[in-house]
Amino acid sequence: MSVTSRTQVGIVGAGPAGLLLSHLLALAGVDSVVVENRTRAYCEARQRAGLLEAGTVELLRSVALGKRLDAEGLEHDGIYLQFLGERHHLDFRSLTGGRWVTVYAQTEIVKDLIAARLAAGGMIEFSCGDVAVSDVTSDRPVLSYTDSSGVAHEVTCDAIAGCDGFHGVCRPLIPDLSVYERSYPYAWLGILASAAPATGELIYSRHADGFALYSMRSPEVSRLYLQVAPDEPLDQWPDDRIWAELQKRFAVDGWSVSEGPITDKSVTAMRSFVATPMRHGRLFLAGDAAHIVPPTGAKGLNLALSDVVLLANALRALLKDGSPALADAYSDACLQRVWRSTHFSWWMTSMLHVAPDADSFESQLQLSQLRYVTSSRAAAQSLAENYTGYNPARFDL
Ligand code: FAD
Ligand code: DHB
Repeated sequence: MSVTSRTQVGIVGAGPAGLLLSHLLALAGVDSVVVENRTRAYCEARQRAGLLEAGTVELLRSVALGKRLDAEGLEHDGIYLQFLGERHHLDFRSLTGGRWVTVYAQTEIVKDLIAARLAAGGMIEFSCGDVAVSDVTSDRPVLSYTDSSGVAHEVTCDAIAGCDGFHGVCRPLIPDLSVYERSYPYAWLGILASAAPATGELIYSRHADGFALYSMRSPEVSRLYLQVAPDEPLDQWPDDRIWAELQKRFAVDGWSVSEGPITDKSVTAMRSFVATPMRHGRLFLAGDAAHIVPPTGAKGLNLALSDVVLLANALRALLKDGSPALADAYSDACLQRVWRSTHFSWWMTSMLHVAPDADSFESQLQLSQLRYVTSSRAAAQSLAENYTGYNPARFDL
C-alpha cells in the first residue's frame, strides 16, 4: 500500500536545477515536491562547479538568494591564459563593457536553496529509494518513491520535472531521443586545499604535459584541477605528486602555487552530451539530465539554472493560466543556449588540453589559437563574451 498525495509539479533531484525550480515555482504560487535519492549532507557536500556567470548572479539576487552570495562570493574581472611558460591576462570588464564572473561554489548554492525551501515550508524528501515516474503522456503523471523510513508514496502531479542529473531515471522515459555526444580522451583530477590562493584570478594553463586550472573557493581555500587520463586511479596521486605536477604546469619565474592540506580529491570524466527533445508530454528535463558539457569554461551549472528559469515560466503559464505556448517552446528555447555553451566548452577544452595521440601539428594549432586570443581584441572579446555569459533568461516575477 502506498500513501497517496497530490501536488502540481513533481521534481526528481535536489541538485541546483531541482531546488531552484522548486524555489521559483513557489514564488509563482505553484506547489511542488522534490524527491532526492541521496542524503541532505551528501547533496550539500558534493564538490562540483564554482563559477557563476553575471546573469546567474543577477538571477539569484532577483529571487532573494543573493545574501550569502553577495557577502561571500568573489567577483572576478578576468582570467589568465598561460602557455609556453607565459601568463596573459584577459580583462573581461573592458572586453565586454562591464561583464564579470563570480566564484561561489555549487555546494553553497545548494545549501542556500535547501535552507530557503525548508524555511518557506517547501517539501524535499531526501534519501528516497525506488524513484519512478509514470503516465507522463496523461495530464496526471505520477511520481512514486519510498521515503527514508521505508514508506511507499504515490504523488499525482500536473507535470514532472526531471532534474535528476546525467544518471537519472527521467531521460530514458523520452522515446525517440536524439543524442549528440563526444567523449574526450582525458579527465580532470580536482582537489580542494586549505591554502590561500596565490592568484587573484583563475589561471587556465596549457602545458605540454597537460592542462591545469587554478581556481578558488575563498581567500583561504584553493580549488585546482589537473588533466589526467580518463581511467586515472586516484591512488596513483598521493598529495606530493599532485603538488609537484601543479607546480610544473603553472610554473612562471618568481611565483609558485601555494600548498596546504588537501581536503577533497576526485576524478571527473569529460564529455559533451545533448539529448533532444527535452520534453515529452508532461515530463520536462532540465540541467544535466538533458545535457553535459566538459567543465572547461564552467558552463554546466549556469546552463542548468538557465533551463530552470525557462521551465518555471513555462510551468506557471501552463498550470496557472492554462497557456501551453511556453511549454511547447521550452525544449527549443533551452537548446539554443545549450548548443552555444556546448560549442564554447568544446572549443576551450580542445584549445587547452593535450590529447594522448596529439601530434606536433595539433600542438602548433593550439598555440596559434592561444596567441590569437591573447593578442587580438576581437578574439579575446569573443572568449570573454562567451565566458561571462549570454543574455540571461528572465524569471517573470
Ligand atoms: P545534478 O547536480 O547532477 O543534480 C541531480 C540530482 O538528482 C542529484 O542530487 C542526484 O543525486 C539526484 N538524482 C539522480 N538520480 C536520481 C533518482 N533516480 N531519484 C532521485 N534523485 C536522483 N560544472 C562546472 O561548471 N564546473 C565544474 O568544475 C564542474 N565539476 C563537476 C564535477 C562532477 C563530478 C560532475 C558530475 C559535474 C560537474 N560540473 C561542473 C557540472 C555541474 O556541477 C552540473 O552541471 C550541475 O551539477 C547540474 O545541476 P543539476 O541539478 O542539473 O544536476
Ligand atoms: C571552476 C571550474 C571550472 O570548470 C572552470 O572552468 C572554472 C572554475 C571551479 O570549480 O572553480
